Amino acid sequence: MKIRGQHYRTIWLNDDGWSVDIIDQTKFPHLFEVTSLQTMEQAAVAIKDMLVRGAPLIGATAAYGLALQMRSDSSDAALEQAYQTLHATRPTAINLKWALDRMMAILKPVQPQDRTEAAYKAAADICDEDVEINAAIGRNGLEIIRRLSEAKGGALVNILTHCNAGWLATVDWGTATAPVYMAHDAGIPVHVWVDETRPRNQGASLTTWELGNHGVPNTVIVDNAGGHLMQHGQVDIVFVGTDRTTANGDVCNKIGTYLKALAAYDNNVPFYVTLPSPTIDFTVHDGVREIPIEERSGLEVSHLTGKTENGSIETIQIVPDGTELANPAFDVTPARLVTGLVTERGVVEASAEALAKAFPERAS
Ligand code: MRU
Repeated sequence: MKIRGQHYRTIWLNDDGWSVDIIDQTKFPHLFEVTSLQTMEQAAVAIKDMLVRGAPLIGATAAYGLALQMRSDSSDAALEQAYQTLHATRPTAINLKWALDRMMAILKPVQPQDRTEAAYKAAADICDEDVEINAAIGRNGLEIIRRLSEAKGGALVNILTHCNAGWLATVDWGTATAPVYMAHDAGIPVHVWVDETRPRNQGASLTTWELGNHGVPNTVIVDNAGGHLMQHGQVDIVFVGTDRTTANGDVCNKIGTYLKALAAYDNNVPFYVTLPSPTIDFTVHDGVREIPIEERSGLEVSHLTGKTENGSIETIQIVPDGTELANPAFDVTPARLVTGLVTERGVVEASAEALAKAFPERAS
């Protein structure tokens, strides 16, 4: 993605050749701040405190976290310890485990003195692959938007999205946003309804920022508005991302996704999930019962941070003192509510058979 004319990925090697630069997403949308990770512990904190977030970017950051660890201590014990530390940062997005397991499979057989170089290369490969996967998802999703546009005689296609499954959630392109960027670039008129996505407001602070930066018309709505818009024919299609999709096509994504899927189903609005293959967990078959749902701090519910009229960034409390709070961060949309999974290998039915057929090497 381009920011003020300069192309950025969301994670890259610093000019020093070893520290890892990221964009601190906790500062969005008011500040664009790049920060350097120099230790595995800093990478773990960046994931846990959501300086980086979004399933694919969490995986990429963890991979570089292992590389940073190898630079300071590449022993078997340090490798194992770093794996455990990074793995414990966030429980729901399976890309974290996928990336760490892949790194371990590469690093374990390598002699400790050669592990640093191997780790940096493997982390860079994960990043490059993510970009390729998302571009392919974009091309496959673009055809869905193109068909919709043709069916509407070229009239504006209204897309609803939840959370941020955009450039900022991946290394580049995004998953749910990739088809949108490609449609916009192809001259297809598109407009995006952006769910604000309480409690952390990834839609209001991240998705609208990046869509606007790319010039894609978009409107932020409160999370509860989607059903109403669908009833009134103002949503043509839903594109969301996913943090973990089960072998049978159940989709775990940011809390509130399930309600959008129900509303879409009731209103015959196609509900597509953009799914990079590293986000498929072939070991899990019942998403509702088996996927661990991250429970985050109640402070995310009780407090809001934003810019005041005088330009300062402040945090305010919006509930009475002492209020009981719960903050489940993800929910599961059953496969039966999903119109299709837009993967790098094409649009796949949300079913065990179709997923196993599309990704036989992962399913076995
Ligand atoms: O808690 P977050 O911000 O990491 O949650 C992100 C999402 O739910 C995204 O929609 C999902 O990771 C897909 S990103 C391509």
